[in-house]
Amino acid sequence: MQIAASILSADFMDLKHSLAQVAGVDFLHIDVMDGHFVPNLTFGPCVLQNLSQHTNTPLDIHFMADNPFFAIELFKDLNPAYMTIHLESTPHLHKLVHHIKNLGFKAGVSLNPATPLSGLEYIIADVDLVLFMSVNPGFGGQKFLPLVLDKIAHFKQKFPTYSGKIEVDGGINADNAPLLASVGANLLVVGSFLFGHKNPILALQELKKV
Ligand code: DX5
Ligand code: ZN
Repeated sequence: MQIAASILSADFMDLKHSLAQVAGVDFLHIDVMDGHFVPNLTFGPCVLQNLSQHTNTPLDIHFMADNPFFAIELFKDLNPAYMTIHLESTPHLHKLVHHIKNLGFKAGVSLNPATPLSGLEYIIADVDLVLFMSVNPGFGGQKFLPLVLDKIAHFKQKFPTYSGKIEVDGGINADNAPLLASVGANLLVVGSFLFGHKNPILALQELKKV
């Protein structure tokens, strides 16, 4: 299992320490929130530019923004591995997925818990990652919504030839990670469970084993 550590739950007064706590993680998951698409604001490019200079871990950016085009432009200098936009945030999904790919990054599409799979039908062949939200986006530390297990199982049936990443985000811990693995998830975003753990290194090892 691959793990992306969500820095939303990190210690912002000591980000260097937080990064050291999760050394060995596959990705750093960066939640970009604009205060419109979700009722919360997070980081701007200055903070992240600084952070990226202190890590070699690839970045996985999750845009929760009403204007994903603007967000992509603002954060493209971070040179992330993945940029993921929400299906619900744009009527121009095809255009933006290809814009991300043309910039040289892998492109992801994210679905809120109640968003049906049908919106992926004409774009799935072009995407490198599908991000299933297992909470309503906006905040760390929320309770996992088990409906995502069924949703991922349906996704696998509906798009059997899809070979990109199946990422899940929200409320993930050592109890539900094996369930997610069993339905086909291969990249888990973990925030509060990891950074809130008394031994994040052990927590990470446990999650990677599932
Ligand atoms: C929620 C964010 C998540 C969040 C996950 O909107 O997209 O990435 O930080 O944090 P936990 O693991 O605490 O749910
Ligand atoms: Zn996220």
